[in-house]
Amino acid sequence: MAAPQPFKLAGVIGWPIAQSRSPVLHGHWLKQYGVNGSYLPLPVQPERLPDAIKGLRALGFSGCNVTIPHKLDVLKLMEVVDPVAMRIGAVNTVVVQNDGTLTGFNTDAYGFLASLRGVRPEWKANAGPIVVLGAGGAARAVVVALLDDGANEIRLMNRTIERAQGLAQIDPSKIHVVDWAERHAALDGAALLVNTTSQGMVGYPPLDITLDALPVGAMVCDIVYNPLETPLLAAARKRGNTCIDGLGMLLHQAVPAFEAFFGVRPQVSNELKRAVADTL
Ligand code: ATR
Repeated sequence: MAAPQPFKLAGVIGWPIAQSRSPVLHGHWLKQYGVNGSYLPLPVQPERLPDAIKGLRALGFSGCNVTIPHKLDVLKLMEVVDPVAMRIGAVNTVVVQNDGTLTGFNTDAYGFLASLRGVRPEWKANAGPIVVLGAGGAARAVVVALLDDGANEIRLMNRTIERAQGLAQIDPSKIHVVDWAERHAALDGAALLVNTTSQGMVGYPPLDITLDALPVGAMVCDIVYNPLETPLLAAARKRGNTCIDGLGMLLHQAVPAFEAFFGVRPQVSNELKRAVADTL
């Protein structure tokens, strides 16, 4: 008889935590793969974050995910930070290594690329100019992912240009900051358009952009996942662009975390997509 698997514990730290989909998707995989483990929602107030992170080791956690508003602050509490997380400047996955070392990762960049490849497996970021809208935390992960995948030209636009100029410092030779007022014309010749702003999310106005200059062969990706079909994607689909919604990134960013916590590399199945979409 095979030895019983040791019990493994993980969770997601945020404040508030009710909005997080992570317990649903990790819970789905725990059941699917018959893992002897549990994944908990962990509400932690900002001032208690250091105690909570230190407590992971004492409580026997394999690790945890970290979400709003802790992704930046948690980086400083890590003993080791993965280079990708360091470049993004944020940690969304903490792993308690076998020797107890707390290591910070950021799986959002991986999740973004895996989501694109889920739709076009052969896609590479050097396919042509890429337009990225927004310069917040999500934009940083997207830009790092695109640069690491070989992007040669990223046209970066943000309502507040100073924030885009700050983000462009990651690689000023490849990231060209364009004025927000030029966003319609800047789509000319692009191979990919990515929206990382909050515009189009439920409760927010649609993103104000005209797609006329965008080639019909370009892909359009919106990292907003509620709703799945944002006004931007609806407009892009109507004119024939291949569209990628935000659910893929949400699901794929959880894959390396689940593997680190529970020792199984999970698949992003259509059944999982439906299960998570049903909670939106
Ligand atoms: P996240 O970490 O999810 O990226 P964020 O840091 O709050 O969240 O960033 C939100 C993004 O949406 C920013 O790029 C923001 O632009 P500003 O830097 O100018 O604030 C963008 N955004 C928010 N409201 C917007 C609006 N009305 N029009 C255009 N962009 C908007």
